[in-house]
Amino acid sequence: MKSREKREVLSKRMFARFLLESPIVIVGCGDRGGRFHVVDVSIAMQQMVLAATSEGLGTCWIGDYDEKVIKALFRVPEKYGVVCLVALGYPREKLELAAKLLGKRSRKRIESIVSYEEFGNSLASS
Ligand SMILES: Cc1cc2nc3c(=O)[nH]c(=O)nc-3n(C[C@H](O)[C@H](O)[C@H](O)COP(=O)(O)O)c2cc1C
Repeated sequence: MKSREKREVLSKRMFARFLLESPIVIVGCGDRGGRFHVVDVSIAMQQMVLAATSEGLGTCWIGDYDEKVIKALFRVPEKYGVVCLVALGYPREKLELAAKLLGKRSRKRIESIVSYEEFGNSLASS
């Protein structure tokens, strides 16, 4: 979606103000009748994030929206749920992904989020 008028509506939310500057916003919707629609749509959106990143574009997941507003704005049929939005555009700063991931921002240690064989076991057996 490119419409400035629609992006203006979306940008009223506190954590989505920058949508006014994002040339494209992808609105991820899935058929709520499907058990895995949230996972399916999230996978598709993340593939788009990866493809965009490899093209040098910037993305941001947006969870700050009112589903009712989105559904009315985009005429989304009742049976579909809005799973997430992803903003797409040219990043103001070009950050190397590796530098971003490994650099300034603090990250949890991998041992604290990965378990082997059973939950909480951070030691891999050889
Ligand atoms: C489901 C989801 C919803 C998010 N919603 C917002 C949002 O509404 N506004 C925003 O600025 N960032 C949002 N983010 C982006 C996060 O704030 C964060 O920038 C992003 O996950 C990358 O974080 P990292 O660099 O620490 O990995 C969201 C991320 C996820 C995964």
